[in-house]
Amino acid sequence: TWPFFMAAIVGYLIGSIPFGLVLTKLAGLGDVRKIGSGNIGATNVLRTGNKGLALATLLLDGGKGAVVVLLANAYLTQDYAVLAGGGAFLGHLFPVWLKFKGGKGVATFIGVMLAASWPAGLAVALTWLASALLFRISSLSALLAAALSPLYIYLLMDYPIGDIYYGDVQRIQFAAFMAVLIFIRHHENIARLLTGKEPRIGKK
Ligand code: G3P
Repeated sequence: TWPFFMAAIVGYLIGSIPFGLVLTKLAGLGDVRKIGSGNIGATNVLRTGNKGLALATLLLDGGKGAVVVLLANAYLTQDYAVLAGGGAFLGHLFPVWLKFKGGKGVATFIGVMLAASWPAGLAVALTWLASALLFRISSLSALLAAALSPLYIYLLMDYPIGDIYYGDVQRIQFAAFMAVLIFIRHHENIARLLTGKEPRIGKK
């Protein structure tokens, strides 16, 4: 159990780096938690008006999740990858450095999904993108993509891609676990969506 515990802890520590907060502070834009939704993610970094920084936040928050899973998969086993990836996701949501008040997990979730099952991750990313182009609301796109993620993995269970199966029960449960937490973390967004008050991407 010790190695499993270590994988989860290392994942957690890497996942808990709040790139959106770090980058906006380094850029002299102040505390991103004091603007817009108060979130530390790319969507809220975009509300500073700095598109490059928002893109960097998206890539780094996604990248940290992907790197953790890829490393564990390469050097250990899928069991470790799921634990380390789960740790990274929880680290982003509940970082010890920010008194456990972290982000909503969408970028990290997509990074973890891409690394854990790239066809499902791709489907998740494309769902987010298609919905974002259609509705121009980041949270709505995230909720749709998260909700569909276990289904995408399920659909891959019986269809190998070049001999490799990218879907199994473990990864379905993992995606569902992250999706549930994403919904919980978006409770304020959901309330705004239901009352038609959720801002469009790039608006304050
Ligand atoms: O990535 C989080 C996104 O889904 C919502 O962000 O800042 O609009 O609450 P925000």
